Amino acid sequence: MKNNTPNGTIETGEMSESLDIPGSSQSAARFDSNLVCDEAVRDPYAFFGELRDTVPIHWNTRHKAWVLTTHELVTAALRNASLTADRMEPFRGSVMRQTNSAAVDETFRILADWMVFLDPPNHTRLRRLVSRIFAPSVVRAQTVDLQEVVGSLIADLPEGRPVDFIAEFAAPLPAIVIAKMLGVPPQDRILFKEWSDQLTSLVFGAYDNPDRFHQAARGMLDLRDYLLGMIEKFEVAPEDNLISLLLEQEDGDSLSRDELISTCTLLLFGGHETTTNLITNGLLALLDFPDQMDDLRRNPDIMAMALEEITRFDGPARSMVRLVKEDHEFGGVEMKAGQRVFLVNPSANRDAAVFGDPDVLNLRRNPTSHVGFGFGLHYCLGAPLARLEADLALSAVLREFDSISLATDRSTLEWNPTMLSRGLKSLPVVLVRR
Ligand code: HEM
Repeated sequence: MKNNTPNGTIETGEMSESLDIPGSSQSAARFDSNLVCDEAVRDPYAFFGELRDTVPIHWNTRHKAWVLTTHELVTAALRNASLTADRMEPFRGSVMRQTNSAAVDETFRILADWMVFLDPPNHTRLRRLVSRIFAPSVVRAQTVDLQEVVGSLIADLPEGRPVDFIAEFAAPLPAIVIAKMLGVPPQDRILFKEWSDQLTSLVFGAYDNPDRFHQAARGMLDLRDYLLGMIEKFEVAPEDNLISLLLEQEDGDSLSRDELISTCTLLLFGGHETTTNLITNGLLALLDFPDQMDDLRRNPDIMAMALEEITRFDGPARSMVRLVKEDHEFGGVEMKAGQRVFLVNPSANRDAAVFGDPDVLNLRRNPTSHVGFGFGLHYCLGAPLARLEADLALSAVLREFDSISLATDRSTLEWNPTMLSRGLKSLPVVLVRR
């Protein structure tokens, strides 16, 4: 098996403080490898599926992490109070030993307030204060604006010659939408995209860039200062946007400045690449299953159900991470405080114990128990927005283009080698209008 240098995540190569378990009885040599090797990146369903069907709870000595691959184990782990989502501090410690920079330290201070890295009660309070911006009525109110953005991107797509569906459509869409929702004026949206990309290099870890921490920190501090300006403006004169909504009090409580800045950076980051990947993986799945694409074209009203199946079948989440809080027994193994745990969404979502014929895309399956948006306390807060964006995007693409075909050999498509997310580098297609 060929191993890449892991262009992994904050949780792959950076943070290797946890204990090793030499000779662990759970060890299965074949899987003791790089979890972002070519094979695992190209087809995580086969790679992690084999693990699921042989050693569903496995200690990976290379990543120094438990790897959980069945639906039952993944959902049980997300209910397990002896596992914690709070994993920024050890990462911060190891990066600070390398950089010793005040800007990098400040960046970690901002990241530490991301709710996805918090446990109750801090998580509960923050999530309650932020969840109002994703209330169905608030998200629905975005529909007209969203349709406008989708419409103008679609109108600009060239036909009859190869076009990268990601660069020209699936990437700009969520970037424009989240900047617009936060209240960023159109002329500054390009800055937002740059800062977000710099942040991505830190959170997803660009190993080939030795300056990545300083670069990300510079981006994060510029973003922080820009957001502070917006917060001050909307405090005095609220407008119809998410920042103004987040500034409002709820039951006598409200977000502090720091929490507000952290939350905006999380929304910016969380809302970008994931949604791009859902739209793109969705189109690819439909191209792979033309009978399903035909069904969806003929019956556009099944789109909501179809999107759940697409999220199950090839969703953007490749794994979730937790740390062991205290020594305890789980799934038949002894977990030790400080160890890392990877919860593998793709293998849980293709677990035959829960989904019949799991490797087949069946848009009428209605797979309500998939874990493509996570599960439990940290279930994706932005899921209603992601669903709406993907619904409007794919509906418009199917409506507008009579013929959609791959402009390259299917086997040459390249996936980004990261531990946490599943997304293509590009998707060249040829589109023909009706
Ligand atoms: C298809 C698109 C998306 C996918 C597949 C996705 C996936 C996920 C997953 C798996 C989690 C759980 C992480 C964990 O438990 O460790 C999560 C959490 C979260 N997501 Fe998403 N996400 C998507 C879009 C969005 C969007 C558009 C936003 C906001 C603009 C967003 C904001 C969040 C937030 C704030 C959390 C943290 C929730 C918490 O900790 O309570 N996501 N997402």
